[in-house]
Amino acid sequence: MYLRLVYISTMRRPLDEAECTQILAASRRNNGADGITGLLVAGGNRFLQLLEGPAAVVERCFHRIGRDPRHFAVVTLDRRETSERQCPDWAMGFLPGGCAADGASLGEIVEALVGPIADKNLKAQFTGFAQIQSAA
Ligand SMILES: Cc1cc2nc3c(=O)[nH]c(=O)nc-3n(C[C@H](O)[C@H](O)[C@H](O)COP(=O)(O)O)c2cc1C
Repeated sequence: MYLRLVYISTMRRPLDEAECTQILAASRRNNGADGITGLLVAGGNRFLQLLEGPAAVVERCFHRIGRDPRHFAVVTLDRRETSERQCPDWAMGFLPGGCAADGASLGEIVEALVGPIADKNLKAQFTGFAQIQSAA
């Protein structure tokens, strides 16, 4: 069984490209080693993240993320045991302030990222987030 965890949080201040790269690098390294997959999307001043993997490592990772000063008001939206992963890998998408958007809209970025997600509600959580943050 795996633990699936989805949370939303608020950026302390807009992230610059170096910080995006740093989060991406640390996450790829740690999540890869721990067998954690999922998605991180930054839109407007919010993060939405899905973490999935063995419960103990997901809990440990979430605890570490929760103490990160780059964001606050971390609110868990979903926490459940599941027999299947929704993402084959770990990925990240950014829109605001210089973060590797290549002219694509947040909706387009998120649409590409949620491609592998079969769970309709989970997918809607991410596409809805993109819509709300694009309108904000
Ligand atoms: C919104 C957000 C999401 C993050 N997601 C992850 C993640 O999925 N995995 C991870 O290891 N670190 C993540 N981090 C970074 C951690 O908070 C922490 O800086 C990092 O795990 C430290 O790794 P290190 O000790 O290997 O340098 C995230 C940080 C933020 C602000």
